[in-house]
Amino acid sequence: MSQVTPQLLRRLLPAPAAEVDPYEAYGDVPARWLRVGMVLSLDGSVTDEEGWSNGLGGVADQWVFRVLRARADAILVGASTARTGRLGPAKLSAELRERRGRPPAPIVVFTRKAAGLDWSLPLFTAARTPTIVVTGDAAAVSASVPVVVTEDPAEAVRRLRDEHGLEHLLCEGGPSLATSLLRAGVVDELCLNVAPTLVGGEHHTRVLDVRGELDLMALYEKNSTLFLRYGVRFAR
Ligand SMILES: NC(=O)c1ccc[n+]([C@@H]2O[C@H](COP(=O)([O-])OP(=O)(O)OC[C@H]3O[C@@H](n4cnc5c(N)ncnc54)[C@H](OP(=O)(O)O)[C@@H]3O)[C@@H](O)[C@H]2O)c1
Repeated sequence: MSQVTPQLLRRLLPAPAAEVDPYEAYGDVPARWLRVGMVLSLDGSVTDEEGWSNGLGGVADQWVFRVLRARADAILVGASTARTGRLGPAKLSAELRERRGRPPAPIVVFTRKAAGLDWSLPLFTAARTPTIVVTGDAAAVSASVPVVVTEDPAEAVRRLRDEHGLEHLLCEGGPSLATSLLRAGVVDELCLNVAPTLVGGEHHTRVLDVRGELDLMALYEKNSTLFLRYGVRFAR
């Protein structure tokens, strides 16, 4: 992952402030927390022309993405996102490493069909903190990869906390896994970074597929990108 210059954000809500440090701002939650953090275009797409999210947000989005990682105990992703091959083991810049004060959070890949994953990817072979797989299909997972055996997302979250000590969980998507976790009632906060970009129809990928009410917790802005933080009212 390339280096990104640290960014300050303008806080619009709750109390306006000209410059806030995202590491402090996003650190205002309990230790046991599940946050979904994703970027989307203004017309609601989570992918750009290349089918990835890099072209959507600017440098402030990329910095907040890193800050959310630095704040988390584990980073949850769906298998399709892992299959893009673009997701490496989590690394942090020197500044975020120092502020975090411990090794990077492990990636946790959710899959129902584990046989479809490439175990030779650096994600599985080169992670300083080993990548974990959550699946009901444990027999298909490479022997060197730690597994949480379940098909139930709520049980997976409980076991990551109880058996692995991973309390603060960050789901980075994709939409399918984020939807699963929201439907299971285990998400506390939705962090949506809305980029000032229109993607149009051809490459449009919908962000979430769930019905529920949300409460706005905070709103920040930088270079026309909006950083929305919503509390999930239907969390159990
Ligand atoms: N904008 C952003 O912030 C952002 C972030 C991440 C990804 N993306 C983009 O999103 C796209 C991928 O999103 P997606 O929605 O298609 O896929 P996804 O959520 O990354 O992965 C879906 C897969 O995850 C597994 N899965 C989902 N729910 C599960 C559950 N409850 N238990 C076990 N496994 C579960 C299944 O894997 P199996 O098929 O192996 O069973 C499913 O097919 C990519 O194009 C990526 O670039 C955007």
